[in-house]
Amino acid sequence: MKEKLIIFDTTLRDGEQSPGASMTREEKVRIARQLERMRVDVIEAGFPAASPGDFEAVKAVAGVVKESTVCGLARALERDIDRAGEALKKAASARIHTFIATSPIHMERKLRMAPEQVVEQAVKAVKWARRYTDNVEFSPEDAGRSELDFLCRVLEAVIDAGATTLNIPDTVGYSLPDAFGALVRDLKARIPNADKVVFSVHCHNDLGLAVANSLSAVINGARQVECTVNGLGERAGNAALEEIVMAVRTRQDVFACETHIDATQIMPASRLVAGITGFAVQPNKAIVGANAFAHESGIHQDGVLKSRETYEIMRAEDVGWTANKMVLGKHSGRNAFRTRLRELGIELESEEAVNAAFTRFKEVADKKHEIFDEDIHALISDEVALLEPEHFKLVSLKVCSETGEIPRARVVISENGAEKRAEAPGSGPVDAAFKALETIVGSGAELQLYSVNNITSGTDAQGEVTVRLAKGGRIVNGQGADTDIVVASAKAYIHALNKLHTNLERLNPQL
Ligand code: KIV
Ligand code: ZN
Repeated sequence: MKEKLIIFDTTLRDGEQSPGASMTREEKVRIARQLERMRVDVIEAGFPAASPGDFEAVKAVAGVVKESTVCGLARALERDIDRAGEALKKAASARIHTFIATSPIHMERKLRMAPEQVVEQAVKAVKWARRYTDNVEFSPEDAGRSELDFLCRVLEAVIDAGATTLNIPDTVGYSLPDAFGALVRDLKARIPNADKVVFSVHCHNDLGLAVANSLSAVINGARQVECTVNGLGERAGNAALEEIVMAVRTRQDVFACETHIDATQIMPASRLVAGITGFAVQPNKAIVGANAFAHESGIHQDGVLKSRETYEIMRAEDVGWTANKMVLGKHSGRNAFRTRLRELGIELESEEAVNAAFTRFKEVADKKHEIFDEDIHALISDEVALLEPEHFKLVSLKVCSETGEIPRARVVISENGAEKRAEAPGSGPVDAAFKALETIVGSGAELQLYSVNNITSGTDAQGEVTVRLAKGGRIVNGQGADTDIVVASAKAYIHALNKLHTNLERLNPQL
């Protein structure tokens, strides 16, 4: 039996630090459930001391996740650790992750602390965290630019204080694979009590090397990798979970360890995170990009038809790409729908939610005839969005678009139950619909992102729209899906307006 490589997912914490990727508590819970389904070992759910919204989100995730360890981030400060401990109280398995910077530049210019003080504070923090859980992770922030002797000193001291995982972050994405692997190897060799802890790595992608650095560290003895779905994360992002998992799995000839991830859940996780955050996946992205398994050249196609292994090192279905299989149609009943939800691992909170989703399924099936798994995921996302508090609701939308004419939209919405209507011209039908909505709502929000993705192939496919609005320093994402992309766009815009109205998103995702 090979050693286990622990997969620590930080999509909900570092991933959320991408500007514009902030998530509501409900969205975090949905992603956390999917991570649990994927059998992620540790889910870093947020930074409880950052804001009350973050605290509530970590608490909510800790309340529902049963199979994965739930982790909260805390600076090496008693008040941060107390907040994390409090938020994680209900977790079946809890971890506190505390950190302090150890590089000369961070200690001098950011912390304004002497190295001695940093060691002392790190030790105090780890001891304090042990009051809440015996599962404590410590990170020397900016380890990639820290001095080796000093790192050894801090890390030896925090192991004695009770840390159980030591995470080595390349905070600014500065390291190169050989040197980063050697750093982990040297730390393990030089720290006398290193055998008492698991070594972990956390790499940023500023030079496009996050996955390469992480894998080099694994080859040199790291047994936990911190990563995010789709490589989301601060600046250029973190190491992509799907790339780490599939590299270790595909190259078992090289790695002395293996993950326990259910790789077939990778695609649903990727779609969910992309949909919720509005960070679309580039088509040529490894594993989860639309072209990742598409063979265009004749020579490749010929080879694959003769023997798959000629050009394929992984199978698309192993990471959850389904072959757009028709699963349900307009005559499918409630039981078939419920069974498919169960097969897809979708759990709705209540009977009311299942009924609402079934009604929506019938509406989509009427228009589209063939319903694929992707359609079900999209309509469930739509329904879950509708279960959030709705101040504004789309009642009807009419758009007129004709060559040579200025497009116009007429929209009716209900605001707190009262119907309001407006009409507006626009440079296109979507623009006209948004202008008509703004005539009623007058939010004055800035439209930062508008993206449309087709959920399945064909012109009858549903379009999934993401709208990002910014107002007064707040940024929210709204989603909507429909076979009519103008309707999907209006739904997404209204979803974002509702979030702005109800303060649902986390206010300050940056550290
Ligand atoms: O990049 C980083 O250093 C971090 C730490 C908090 C682990 O995100
Ligand atoms: Zn980070």
